[in-house]
Amino acid sequence: MSSPEELNFESGNVKLSLIQYRNTFNHGTTVWDSSVITAYYMQSLLNSYNPIKKNMTCIELGSGCGLLGLVMCSLGFETTLTDLAAVVDDVLKENVRRNLFIFNNQPQNNENFQHKAYVKVLDWTTQLSSDFTPPYDYIVASDCIYSLDLIPYFAKCLYDLSGDKSVIVCGMERRDPIVIDNFLNECKEKYSFNISKIPVSKVKKILKRINNLNDEKLTQVEIYRLKKIDV
Ligand SMILES: C[S@@+](CC[C@H](N)C(=O)[O-])C[C@H]1O[C@@H](n2cnc3c(N)ncnc32)[C@H](O)[C@@H]1O
Repeated sequence: MSSPEELNFESGNVKLSLIQYRNTFNHGTTVWDSSVITAYYMQSLLNSYNPIKKNMTCIELGSGCGLLGLVMCSLGFETTLTDLAAVVDDVLKENVRRNLFIFNNQPQNNENFQHKAYVKVLDWTTQLSSDFTPPYDYIVASDCIYSLDLIPYFAKCLYDLSGDKSVIVCGMERRDPIVIDNFLNECKEKYSFNISKIPVSKVKKILKRINNLNDEKLTQVEIYRLKKIDV
């Protein structure tokens, strides 16, 4: 692998620093638009929320470089970021290490709150190991819906990691409508998830202050909220 590219993101008062590699054959070593948009959306949505007081947990599936999970961690969720072993080793561990350092050493962290994030290997196609402690309060994923073959495994993983109160948020690019529809059907028919799509107008409104996001990107990325029961 050549040397990594460094990317900076601002999330609220925190500046995140990520590495990515563009020239690998692995999807997980670059930051995808879905993760940028879903991360900013969650940051804006939950900014005034206080997960710290409630000891709330979050798990990210298919984290890749980890932007979305790290934004959840910056908000105070005790966050587990997961991916296949190669991605964990190439980018995820390093990104979590450097950003935990940033979060826990920022001047405004005056209450001495220690942000917590863990990196674990989680392959959707294998049985969930006892390393994981469901239910998680939030389960997030971005750009993980792109292969028909993986959908049944990914949907089962969402089911296994969630409880009645869990909120699941999935951001995805509309590349192939068949793949997205198949995922939504699997979640609805097999697992009876209640599914709502966040209206593009709402996402646009929330993200309008972020000037490097153009309208085309915003309309290609869709964000869905899933819950086990209808509330
Ligand atoms: C398109 S990338 C998205 C990465 C990141 N979430 C983002 O949006 O920038 C898809 C991710 O899913 C992961 N993935 C693919 N198959 C997987 C599997 N069977 N189990 C766990 N993760 C998997 C890949 O390693 C990769 O990190």
